Amino acid sequence: MSLAAQAPGGGWVRTVPVADVPAGGALAVDLDEGGVLLIRTRRGRVLAYDIACPHLGARLDAARVGRWHLTCPVHAYRFRVSDGMCVRPRGRRPLRACEVRVLDGVIYVSASEKD
Ligand code: FES
Repeated sequence: MSLAAQAPGGGWVRTVPVADVPAGGALAVDLDEGGVLLIRTRRGRVLAYDIACPHLGARLDAARVGRWHLTCPVHAYRFRVSDGMCVRPRGRRPLRACEVRVLDGVIYVSASEKD
């Protein structure tokens, strides 16, 4: 079954094989639609966030990604890996999450942002 068939409405963009993203780490990928930061947790969950920090737009290529948090390299805002919520300082705008699908070992992200 094609990805488009699984995700009505389309808008899915092929990125990289899951194996290219280090377990417990991240990989920045530039797409025509904009950059995304792909994260693979140690348990194998794959997440994708817009590459631009929601604070002042710094690219998150050099973000420090830990087990629970991602830290922007510019002003050290800290975001929860699991859902992108800003935890330091609290209550600031969260990371912009993208929908993710893995099909045949390849990561696809939705061109539109997740709610
Ligand atoms: S630009 Fe990321 S914390 Fe300021």
